Amino acid sequence: MSSQMCKSASRVIRSLLSASKNSRFCSAEGRAVAAAAAVSVDSKVPLLASAYGSGGSANASRGWLPGVFALPVAAYMVQEQEAHAAQNERTFIAIKPDGVQRGLIAEIISRFERKGFKLVAIKITVPSKEFAQKHYHDLKDRPFFNGLCQFLSSGPVVAMVWEGEGVIKYGRKLIGATDPQRSEPGTIRGDLAVVVGRNIIHGSDGPETAKDEISLWFKPQELVNYKSNEEKWIYGVN
Ligand code: RTP
Ligand code: MG
Repeated sequence: MSSQMCKSASRVIRSLLSASKNSRFCSAEGRAVAAAAAVSVDSKVPLLASAYGSGGSANASRGWLPGVFALPVAAYMVQEQEAHAAQNERTFIAIKPDGVQRGLIAEIISRFERKGFKLVAIKITVPSKEFAQKHYHDLKDRPFFNGLCQFLSSGPVVAMVWEGEGVIKYGRKLIGATDPQRSEPGTIRGDLAVVVGRNIIHGSDGPETAKDEISLWFKPQELVNYKSNEEKWIYGVN
């Protein structure tokens, strides 16, 4: 399928999807075909017909599915694509000099890892004060700005990019409130820090910030795209 065809098909499918919720296209049969499709998404639609058996074989040999099967299959593929996009969400996380000096690198990484998020970039670096000022530019009018930038540039920082569905917002939950006195127990700051000026970790606070911070700290080639074997156990719809 050409990309133009894919786009048009995708538009049609989207409108059909919203119009046909609870219709026969969303029946158990439709979902069964779609499930078969999921196994061989890379093989494109024709293979799916043979997976379904004789009903589709004549059409399959010509490279097409019967319309009634093609719709749920294609719809499933669009949904799969969207789910994949959500899994690819990325956030910037940094272990600040206090976290590094206190030997908390492994502890912090393991909390993100155990949750099911995927590490796609990591490095240890001592940022300059100018760099710290760029990173915290939105706080430049706050009274603690100078001290904050001084501190961030005072020692090694572990800079990371984590990937996964909802990782920006949930990453902030794992981290906890800015002031460790208010962070819930169970969060990183709640369990491992005491005062706001030494709260050991930074996390992007939204999609725009995440994008800006990732490109400030990392070159595109430092971000690693890979499929983790665990993903099929971390993501799935029943
Ligand atoms: P971060 O950017 O480091 O992840 O922290 P955050 O979003 O939870 O909080 P933010 O308002 O962005 O503040 C950035 C860092 O500034 C320090 N801070 N000190 N009253 C204070 O002394 C004060 N308030 C904030 C903290 O280190 C905070 O993480
Ligand atoms: Mg912040």
